Amino acid sequence: MPLLHVNIDHIATVRQARRASEPDPVAAAAVCELAGADGITVHLREDRRHIQDRDVRLLRSTVKTILNLESSLADEMIAIACDVRPDEVCLVPENRREITTEGGLDAATELSRLKSVVARLHKAGILVSVFVDPDERQVQASRDAGADFVELHTGQYSGACSHRLATSAVHDELDRLSRAAAHGRSIGLRVNAGHGLDYKNARPVASIPQIEELNIGFSIIARSVFVGLDAAVREMKQSISNN
Ligand code: PXP
Repeated sequence: MPLLHVNIDHIATVRQARRASEPDPVAAAAVCELAGADGITVHLREDRRHIQDRDVRLLRSTVKTILNLESSLADEMIAIACDVRPDEVCLVPENRREITTEGGLDAATELSRLKSVVARLHKAGILVSVFVDPDERQVQASRDAGADFVELHTGQYSGACSHRLATSAVHDELDRLSRAAAHGRSIGLRVNAGHGLDYKNARPVASIPQIEELNIGFSIIARSVFVGLDAAVREMKQSISNN
């Protein structure tokens, strides 16, 4: 069973709706950890639409599991990451108009920039992951850039599940994820996955043997509105377990 990293960005989305001090993602992270989360993920976006600099700095001193910071390749963001020193940084593409991260990073096209960003983060003692589509060329480019992990984008898979596309489309997406995961491992990368995973669709991805960590945010935070954050995290741990 892969580890569960809970993305708590949307706790901050609720807070920022009123520019208030609650709900505090720092408190949410502690609740997630007590409920069994194996790591905490936040995305400090360039537009600061949800997570704020203060959150990342406080989380660095309070998170007891693993702190994973999602970041664009922008100089300003990499400087913050090197200063805060989360355990892992996941490099993602960022577009100000998007509602959420829309696709994987084009690691193949960005290779030389990616190499220098990975080297900067490594120098600060941070493990680096690259968020890519489940495409062997992108996985290979992440390896060439010196990354430790790839995080495979599960958005196409979860989209196929939620649009109730023919089961063959869902199987095709799972097959792409499995092949990309196997390729990643075969060339020495560690493999994570995430985006759009929920209580119904996460299990088949969790069953891909090479996948170490799942990053799941929206579905857990949405469910927590009704059942509480502790129960929402415990239920997701159960959903991705083999029992
Ligand atoms: N992984 C990455 C790289 C992401 O950008 C996100 C969204 O912030 C997630 C995982 C989690 O996606 P979701 O909120 O849909 O579970």
